[in-house]
Amino acid sequence: MSAKKRKKTKEPPRVEKTPPPAQAPGVEGIPPAVQAPRAGETPRPMEPVHPAETPRRDFLGRLWKILGIVALLEFLGVGLAFLAPKREAKKEGAFGGVITAGPAERFAPDTVTAFRQGHFYLARLPDGGLLALSRKCTHLGCSVPWVAEEKRFICPCHASVFDIQGNVANPPAPRALDLFPVSLVNGIVKVDTGKTIRRQRFEKSQAVYP
Ligand code: FES
Repeated sequence: MSAKKRKKTKEPPRVEKTPPPAQAPGVEGIPPAVQAPRAGETPRPMEPVHPAETPRRDFLGRLWKILGIVALLEFLGVGLAFLAPKREAKKEGAFGGVITAGPAERFAPDTVTAFRQGHFYLARLPDGGLLALSRKCTHLGCSVPWVAEEKRFICPCHASVFDIQGNVANPPAPRALDLFPVSLVNGIVKVDTGKTIRRQRFEKSQAVYP
């Protein structure tokens, strides 16, 4: 082929490649909106918070705090109740419970029988009445022994004296010996050492008669 013919041969039209759109400058993998503004850039303005939102948020925050405290207190209360030693039920036959003293006829009139475990004296009065007298002196709480020869209770601490009914025969004790309730069940004397009866002096209604 001649040189003239070669010139006339049409060349295929050139396709211009469109360059990809320029990416906004930023750190790879992080959307530009999230990135901190670079030096020289004008920072984007923060989204305005509606004025009504702030007190509402505060209120919700406080509410959650209160609920959290209440839940914590409940949890502590349950935990302490679980860990605290359970109060032993008052055992029958021991101090604090009901003590069976025995048949009433076993206690002769005008006598006093000591029940050390029960911390009381069972006094059988000359007229047959029964009293359970606390052994605790009403002055300062010393244990008061019964002196059978003198038929009196004489406190070793400050010399208070009580008669068989528990009345003060000699101060400084300010009042009669305390009582424990006595009951008779089929002729058996029972004393409830879980209840203390305070009194000033003896009255006949305090005694229990078989
Ligand atoms: S304690 Fe009994 S007289 Fe003081």
